[in-house]
Amino acid sequence: MRRSTLRQLEVFEAIARLGSFTRAAEELFLTQPTVSMQIKKLADAVGMPLFEQVGKKIYLTGAGRALHAFTRELLDHFARFEMTLTDMKGLKRGTLRLAVVTTAEYFAPRLLGPFCLQYPGIDVSLKVSNRERVLERLADNQDDLYVLGQPPEGLDVVATPFLGNPLVVLAPANHPLAGKKKVPLGRLADEPFLMRESGSGTRAAAERLFREHGLEMKVRMELGSNEAIKQAIVGGLGVSVLSRHSLALRAPVGELVILDVVGFPIERQWYVVYPAGKQLSIVARAFLDYLKRAPAFAGIPAAGRKTADAGPGSEAPARPRASERKAQARARAARRATT
Ligand code: PGA
Repeated sequence: MRRSTLRQLEVFEAIARLGSFTRAAEELFLTQPTVSMQIKKLADAVGMPLFEQVGKKIYLTGAGRALHAFTRELLDHFARFEMTLTDMKGLKRGTLRLAVVTTAEYFAPRLLGPFCLQYPGIDVSLKVSNRERVLERLADNQDDLYVLGQPPEGLDVVATPFLGNPLVVLAPANHPLAGKKKVPLGRLADEPFLMRESGSGTRAAAERLFREHGLEMKVRMELGSNEAIKQAIVGGLGVSVLSRHSLALRAPVGELVILDVVGFPIERQWYVVYPAGKQLSIVARAFLDYLKRAPAFAGIPAAGRKTADAGPGSEAPARPRASERKAQARARAARRATT
């Protein structure tokens, strides 16, 4: 039996599936005598007949049925092995085209690091723009994968959440609401707001929350970047709602605080998205699989975790440090003294 060739098993499988020597010969581009010869050799190796003919029809014998089950399993394994080989060849070279929303710039490059190390032959093209632009790119099928704060409505997509994205209220450290517990949303609506540009997913989520409560934000200024908004907050121009991830890296340490406002953090997720009918490239599939595992080893909180921690690498405290609280108390006292 061990001397039977894979070709003989392939021929046997085709006959069993198609119920005909002639059709099997056609499918495999072989002559009928060759097919008969292969099956004879295989039956000799097994030591029992594999088919029996009743009238014009052929049927599998008991040994034939057992061999059929074994052959399918073997051919399945073989196909999977071939796929693995193709993938290994494919992952040596290739390009991953990613489009991510602005706020994802705080973690997307970091997530790419270990992936690129694993597949050094792969080039990555990373486009960063706001939600509206990313949605345009998605509708035009310009990239392999997209990272968004919310799957698009009205487009048929596959969307997989892979990381939590809490939106928080940020204020300057000396803000009168700093350190206050459970500030009502209505109170926040009195504050001057620094808003991301229209088309931003962060802005849309904040506006939705206020709208749901019949409130409106007093927009003092519109800025097209999270960094500019943080600097404007520190500059005392107002408060804002931003992703906690925006506190990563260059957070103005000690100058920003997260306010404890009812309804916050707005618990969102980061989604990796692609059009439903799209045939993903081997590289894109590898990155998708990687993303599902990545948060754990990139030191980033995993999806769905209701976290109160600051974002990846963040040094901005959720609550002012003792020294900052003292400074805030002094500032408040100073304000009281002057009013
Ligand atoms: P944005 O998107 O960077 O365009 O605001 C973020 C999000 O959708 O959460």
